[in-house]
Amino acid sequence: MLDIKITKTTAPKAKPQGPLGFGKIFTDHMFVMNYTEGKGWHDARIVSFENISLSPACVVFHYGQEMFEGMKAYKGADGKTYLFRPERNAARANESNRRLCIPEIPEEDFVEAVRAVVRVDEDWIPTEPGTSLYIRPFVIATDAFLGVAPSKTYLFMVILSPSGAYYSSGLSPVGIWIEDDYVRAVKGGIGYTKTGGNYAASLAAQVKAHDAGYSQVLWLDGVERRYIEEVGAMNIFFKIDGKVLTPALNGSILPGVTRNSVLQLLKSWGIPAEERRISVDELLEAQKTGKLEEVFGTGTAAVISPVGKLRYKDDVMTIGDGGIGAVSQRLYDTITGIQTGALKDPFGWRVEI
Ligand code: COI
Repeated sequence: MLDIKITKTTAPKAKPQGPLGFGKIFTDHMFVMNYTEGKGWHDARIVSFENISLSPACVVFHYGQEMFEGMKAYKGADGKTYLFRPERNAARANESNRRLCIPEIPEEDFVEAVRAVVRVDEDWIPTEPGTSLYIRPFVIATDAFLGVAPSKTYLFMVILSPSGAYYSSGLSPVGIWIEDDYVRAVKGGIGYTKTGGNYAASLAAQVKAHDAGYSQVLWLDGVERRYIEEVGAMNIFFKIDGKVLTPALNGSILPGVTRNSVLQLLKSWGIPAEERRISVDELLEAQKTGKLEEVFGTGTAAVISPVGKLRYKDDVMTIGDGGIGAVSQRLYDTITGIQTGALKDPFGWRVEI
């Protein structure tokens, strides 16, 4: 059990009015905890959300030793506050930590930190449909040392951002660029972790995709540039000839919490779903024969994001009629319904704060 010292801000900010966007506004408080080698995690506290002071020599600035997570809190129509499967984020945080030589955080402490700071800023949770309080837990390496070695000190922080849809288009279908030059990750690397380096590696292709009018990049495997991996901020699913497919977790793909929830929901609905290797040629062939029925991304920030258009080299594939597919819509309605308490939660995913 964490002993969290809470110091409330003396200057609470005005709550946002109007459209929120994603990740632009921050609440009044944040959770902070230090790690020191030999002492472990210590000084758990909730303080005002404010700038922090760090040496310019910190390991995180030079070698990117950091881990982050993404979660959300929801205000139900019953007035209660809910988290969605927080224990999976806690477990995944430690999978990332182990790969990045960051000390593990006891999973119950990770969840307690999130619960505590959300409780303090509960009145920041937006209630408009499609909005939530986005939660960003992260760890940074803070040793002031330019040698390449794991840091001996760290900061674990949790910040909160009242947010709307991740894409400015909302639930409208997005266009995705299948990248055939740059790659994001390879097996044995850090592709399965949530760490800044994976996202830094994605930026050049994302700029290229944006310039061509696409919202996100779909990555192919780093060796043959042939097999589908994931999208910049989401996992990816394809409905081909009645069956839903998603790339199997192979060490270079992020094990998404929404991805896992979608697979469980599809199974419970009797819709066949497979995790396996999917080649870009298989997609092109399915498109040509009219069997590529739906494409959607899944993620905490993106929830379910229908894909209306895919581009690969000179081929531009319009998916279905370019609108929101029936399975994508049903998944979106069910997942957000469970998250906000509007629907029953047969899987026990919702956690009341
Ligand atoms: C999330 O979905 O929570 C993520 O962390 C993706 C991020 C790139 C916005």
